[in-house]
Amino acid sequence: MFGLGTLTRVTRELRQDLTAAQERDPAARGIGRAEILLTYGGVQALLAHRVAHALHDNGVPLLPHAIANVGKMATGVEIHPAAEIGEALFIDHGAGVVIGETAEIGHNVTLYQGVTLGGTGFARGKRHPTVESDVIVGSGAKLLGPIRVGQGSKVGANSVVIHDVPPNSTVVGNPGHPVRVEGKRPGGPDADWAHLPDPVADAIRALSNRVAELEKLLAETTGRKPEPSAEVRPLRNVRGSDPAAG
Ligand SMILES: CC(C)(COP(=O)(O)OP(=O)(O)OC[C@H]1O[C@@H](n2cnc3c(N)ncnc32)[C@H](O)[C@@H]1OP(=O)(O)O)[C@@H](O)C(=O)NCCC(=O)NCCS
Repeated sequence: MFGLGTLTRVTRELRQDLTAAQERDPAARGIGRAEILLTYGGVQALLAHRVAHALHDNGVPLLPHAIANVGKMATGVEIHPAAEIGEALFIDHGAGVVIGETAEIGHNVTLYQGVTLGGTGFARGKRHPTVESDVIVGSGAKLLGPIRVGQGSKVGANSVVIHDVPPNSTVVGNPGHPVRVEGKRPGGPDADWAHLPDPVADAIRALSNRVAELEKLLAETTGRKPEPSAEVRPLRNVRGSDPAAG
């Protein structure tokens, strides 16, 4: 059930996780691997998960969940034993991280404290995020539902991400939206969500201008001034809730 092959795998994963901590935490420079293992909650939580996941894969009942629970009590990081986690994950600071049952994480991913890879409801099946390799998820970010965060992307601290994220992007805000894709601000007419084009208002504005011009011409030709009541009222933005909303 927990043979030599599994032990070798867990040992290799632990070595990679320790290297990830040394490489990605500037405060870990000059600290030995033993000290990291003894003092880094994120690394300890991962070690507990590596063991629990191996047992879970081998069909061992109860024990994987018990190990995950002890890991949570000791570190504040809750990782479901079934979650698939690639090589060299680094959970910086640890506390408050939650990784759900059907979450999948690629290689060389960094999660800061307070990150949730969670579900959105009571549905069964795949309901947690897939985070591809080389992704950084900022502190407090919530990634919800069976979304996919593309390789090399960054999720800003405290973002709430509920849609897929393209590779090599930066996503921030609630709801999370891309502010950089491949190093550039996203372009196109529909990138400025607050100022979408309004073709109906444009058409009415053009007609209003033409009516005003015709009235001016008529007034000049006939010498008759238009009735004040016939003036075209200027268009202005509606305040309050959108009357066009369903
Ligand atoms: C998102 C992040 C990774 C920066 O990524 P980046 O690709 O270098 O992006 P930039 O810094 O160029 O920022 C891009 C835009 O997003 C905005 N932004 C960055 N982080 C943001 C955040 N967390 N929330 C909201 N907006 C954010 C920037 O102001 C900038 O806005 P602009 O387009 O108007 O200029 C970084 O800001 C972040 O949140 N890192 C998490 C770090 C963390 O959690 N540390 C905890 C240590 S204990």
